Amino acid sequence: MTSRGLRGTTRLAGLVGWPVAHSRSPRLHNEWLRRYGIDGAYVPLPVPPGRLEVALRGLQASGFAGVNVTIPHKLEAFRLSDVLSDAARRCGSVNTLRFAPDGSIVGDSSDGQGFVDSVRAAGVDPSRGPALVLGAGGAARAIAAALQAARVQVHLANRTRARAEELAELLAEGGDGPSPRVLDWGDREAALGDQALLVNTTSIGMTGASEARSPCRLDQAPTGLVVCDIVYAPRVTPLLAEAGARGLRTVEGLGMLLHQARAGFADWFGVDPAVDAALFDLVGNDEGGTG
Ligand code: ATR
Repeated sequence: MTSRGLRGTTRLAGLVGWPVAHSRSPRLHNEWLRRYGIDGAYVPLPVPPGRLEVALRGLQASGFAGVNVTIPHKLEAFRLSDVLSDAARRCGSVNTLRFAPDGSIVGDSSDGQGFVDSVRAAGVDPSRGPALVLGAGGAARAIAAALQAARVQVHLANRTRARAEELAELLAEGGDGPSPRVLDWGDREAALGDQALLVNTTSIGMTGASEARSPCRLDQAPTGLVVCDIVYAPRVTPLLAEAGARGLRTVEGLGMLLHQARAGFADWFGVDPAVDAALFDLVGNDEGGTG
């Protein structure tokens, strides 16, 4: 929001989730609005499970330009979208909605692109592979699909192997890049020798866990391995700390959070906003928080 405050002309967007109180997204979007002098505002919108549709219809009727959607609504937002981007279809979920002038709801998933952009912004070519993706949840799906679309050979390792196999099948059917291969969770460290990129999408290493842990030891990592973590609180996770100590290149998770937000901002406010070091400090300067 600009210093002039809210007015009848102010373009509105926000974050729909449950809970949303600790989200960093309002801080991020409102900083971009301030920087670009846009008459807009981005507000947290706590919507309990089961109330997404009524909330979206109300926001649409109230003139909102669109919203981000986070836990637990990403799958339901996919179902409620009238039009889906290719990325949303590949991910089976939606985190960015635009309310089109014709009354339709347009759904996109920007997590995978946000990851790829954050890797590129760190000076690493995201299409270099192969890649080992740890985890098989929603974030793994978005990232693996984006890497597959960039023609990267993806390997998936998950504690529960069946989930990795399910994900590999989905991506093999839906994607047009190389089909992902599944590895045993117990083989992840030995498999590092063949990888160019390692991506942690599990929650291991997040603030709040009883002990600081890493999802993968790096003693068998080749010197060219690039290590990425999507956990961003703490910014330097135990995995990234070990990678740094070994002289490996790292990509921190905060970059994905910042870059995935660009698509929505551009849709609603008409500017593709810049991600710079000051933004990392502004958004990353406290512990905890989601989306
Ligand atoms: P999201 O949608 O955010 O990716 P999720 O679906 O809850 O979240 O997935 C979390 C991922 O972290 C899963 O791959 C999970 O492994 P399982 O499928 O076996 O549950 C992984 N994960 C969480 N805690 C873990 C742990 N202690 N060890 C290994 N993997 C873990």
